[in-house]
Amino acid sequence: MGYNFSKRTSHFTLPKQWASMRVAKKLEKETGKKIIHFEKGDYQGPDFETPEHILKATVDALNAGYVRYDPGPGLPELRDYIANEVMKERRPGTKPEEVIVCAGAKNALTMSLLTLLEDGDHVIFPNPGYPPDEVWAKYAGAKIDHTPLNQDDWQYDLKKLDEMITDKTKLLIINTPQRPNGQLVENPEEIAELVLKHPDLLVITDEIFSQVIYDGKKHKTISSIPEMKDRCIVIDTWSKTYAMTGWRIGFAVANEEIITKLSIFLQDSITNVAAFIQRAAFEAVSGPQDWTYEKRELLQHKRDLMVKGLNEVPGIKCITPPGSFYCFPDITGTGLSSQEFTDKLVVDAGVAVVAGTAFGSQGEGFVRVTYAVHDDDIHEGIKRMKDLFSK
Ligand SMILES: Cc1ncc(COP(=O)(O)O)c(C=O)c1O
Repeated sequence: MGYNFSKRTSHFTLPKQWASMRVAKKLEKETGKKIIHFEKGDYQGPDFETPEHILKATVDALNAGYVRYDPGPGLPELRDYIANEVMKERRPGTKPEEVIVCAGAKNALTMSLLTLLEDGDHVIFPNPGYPPDEVWAKYAGAKIDHTPLNQDDWQYDLKKLDEMITDKTKLLIINTPQRPNGQLVENPEEIAELVLKHPDLLVITDEIFSQVIYDGKKHKTISSIPEMKDRCIVIDTWSKTYAMTGWRIGFAVANEEIITKLSIFLQDSITNVAAFIQRAAFEAVSGPQDWTYEKRELLQHKRDLMVKGLNEVPGIKCITPPGSFYCFPDITGTGLSSQEFTDKLVVDAGVAVVAGTAFGSQGEGFVRVTYAVHDDDIHEGIKRMKDLFSK
């Protein structure tokens, strides 16, 4: 039987970035061969379990009876802590009423896009970028303009960005550290200058890897610029900082008027993030941060191992990404397109990566590789790549 779905759902297509995972899983099932998984956007293996004290806080919260509706935009002490501590430098002067706790950054992004955009609005996304956001922008009826990031350093081309912004542009999307390439947006001040030329232009700044930055570098955000404070929606999550990807909790920070709208959206859609999970999240942000510091060092070690290995594979060049848990090597030296490389690598060597084009046309010539995996997998994956491309 055929169903009459709403026309807007024509934008719901299976994400291209999952294609590699589907092929890898199929191969694993059919051949029994061990596939090395560098394609996932998640932590893998025992190096990255949610810290023990957070698990304990969850069990304590369950035993204390936090199992009912917990309506409102978030646990008061959690909103308070985010406003006063987490945002202290990122958006000075944030009030608790300017914080909403959501079911992950994705939920915060979806609600923000659907709340702000309507038919005919334009929204600027970086290319390469994060495709799920685009689905909701299109669902809202907005037109997407892609601003190509420079392929050598993945920074915004300010001239192109300036030319792209028109009176119809309602939103600019920034993501730092960036997915899929792990680079930091280095010049928020200059981007702010362009934005401030347009009185109604808002910015969504997706900062889900804000705590996963290496080499002593510091997270920089456009929302810390005083004139940008009420122009930005800052989005962050517990997923990456505390290895809580499956817990589905994140937050958004913006002017109270925006947060009030988002709160009604949250209330009328999912009601609230599970009460016991919010209590665990409070323990995560306000409790000891040793785990995050240790894992950052461990990830930096894995990044170095992966980048060094990739640079030893014939035809591959990889710059060192300062953040996230991805690197984005240039594979043009192999003579293959991103998709051909990805397909060949998984079929011939049993190593799964994601084609750069899954994140936009500027990703052609690159692939995304996750290094939040066991060291043994990094060694084995690199060995298989060397064997394949040395032939
Ligand atoms: C750029 C970006 N934004 C948002 C998300 C979603 O994060 P969350 O797990 O908090 O929903 C991801 C997930 O990997 C991401 O890469």
